[in-house]
Amino acid sequence: MKRLHIIYNLQTQFVVLIAICLFAYSSSSKIGETCRSENKCEFGLTCQTCPANGNTRPRCSRIQISNPISKVKGLPFNRYSWLTTHNSFALAGARSTTGSIIIAPMNQDDTIVDQLRNGVRGFMLDMYDFENDIWLCHSTQGKCFNFTSFQPAKNVLSEMRAFLDSNPTEIITIFIEDYVTSPQGLTKVFQASGINKYMLPVSRMPKNGEDWPIVDDMIQKNQRFIAFTSKSSKEASEGIAFQWKYVVENQYGDEGMQEGSCPNRAESPSMNTKSKSLVLVNYFHSTPNRSQSCADNSAPLLSMMKTCHDASGNRWPNFIAVDYYQRSDGGGVPEAVDEANGHLACGCDNIAYCKENATFGSCDVPPISPPPPASESAPNGNQPPPTNNQSNNAYIGRTAKLMQLVVLILATTTFLTLL
Ligand SMILES: *[C@@H]1O[C@H](CO)[C@@H](O)[C@H](O)[C@H]1NC(C)=O
Ligand SMILES: *[C@@H]1O[C@H](CO)[C@@H](O)[C@H](O)[C@H]1NC(C)=O
Ligand SMILES: *[C@@H]1O[C@H](CO)[C@@H](O)[C@H](O)[C@H]1NC(C)=O
Ligand SMILES: *[C@@H]1O[C@H](CO)[C@@H](O)[C@H](O)[C@H]1NC(C)=O
Repeated sequence: MKRLHIIYNLQTQFVVLIAICLFAYSSSSKIGETCRSENKCEFGLTCQTCPANGNTRPRCSRIQISNPISKVKGLPFNRYSWLTTHNSFALAGARSTTGSIIIAPMNQDDTIVDQLRNGVRGFMLDMYDFENDIWLCHSTQGKCFNFTSFQPAKNVLSEMRAFLDSNPTEIITIFIEDYVTSPQGLTKVFQASGINKYMLPVSRMPKNGEDWPIVDDMIQKNQRFIAFTSKSSKEASEGIAFQWKYVVENQYGDEGMQEGSCPNRAESPSMNTKSKSLVLVNYFHSTPNRSQSCADNSAPLLSMMKTCHDASGNRWPNFIAVDYYQRSDGGGVPEAVDEANGHLACGCDNIAYCKENATFGSCDVPPISPPPPASESAPNGNQPPPTNNQSNNAYIGRTAKLMQLVVLILATTTFLTLL
């Protein structure tokens, strides 16, 4: 009787033990770890490969940034960095609201609502006069057609307004590539969407390199929508800030992706113009290429961010603009933004290392190891050398866990049989 009882107890423990092991094995994977499907990655990560840089092992990769304002409070707007999408509205596979198919390059994989959810706070929007309204189009010669039109700008601006309504501490910036010539066209569409009530007035934007308003103040006054236009005349006629009066911006497209150089785009003052308080870094090809963007958005982006920092008079970017922002081989654009935020907000290498109320440059050594390096080796030698020890270790870690499990089961079974 006693003996039976012991065996029964052992068996129960055995079952519990196996359950624990299985749970440990099947729990969500962290960044850089091998994954088999989406739902195996932790929240804020997706499972993806990046064949463009030789990374064919599916690994959990980041698509969400850490909110910098909730981590370090009380700083001017220009002391933070924001994840920005290039042609945010050009959703791959979308159909025009006119019903037409779209014959235009596509730059993103998800809607603006989903982008907002993942922490995108900067949006590049091309606006045109079309169908007696203002539309988001990806066109040429400033003229929109059914087959280059995506949707009325009002739709997207309304979605942003709804986001600001329900997230009272968030701030959104838009960069309008402005082809609108109808009188007060932008003003009307801002009003129609209701987003005008959140606009930060031009009068509050620093004209000579001073700090921007403190974010807490912008939040308190509900001035949480910043709009820039590419048309200088609109600042006087409609009170919409002319972008390059406030922002320096590097060359976009292929020309802007040459390693080691960060020239300004033609419309922008030179990158080191300190009388402009904001720095925008573009990093995307002239023709969007989804399969290439995971490679672009990884180690080369971090490297360009450093190059542009040096070219901008040691200033880290306030906006980092990319195509297919979710694509990377690990840390991706969220890692770049977190690093920029660390430098800007607290003088640390990553926003995760900032300490509450600490003096600038005093950093927390992270309790967990930082995200594994994003880069992967490439056969053509164009890419940096392999630095993926940690991610391989993660892979080895999984295999080891499985081995432990097998050994444990064998040992316990043997033990029970002996009894
Ligand atoms: C463009 O789409 C509109 C519907 O919004 C339609 O009325 C019009 O006929 C279309 N034009 C062409 C050229 O297909
Ligand atoms: C897109 O990128 C992939 C991967 O780098 C490359 O093989 C392909 O040629 C590119 N396509 C175009 C049209 O450039
Ligand atoms: C940081 O400062 C704020 C405001 O002064 C205060 O409420 C908070 O408790 C401080 N946090 C720490 C960890 O000292
Ligand atoms: C990778 O691991 C090896 C052996 O553990 C070590 O010698 C090497 O420095 C590591 N490389 C990197 C980039 O961490």
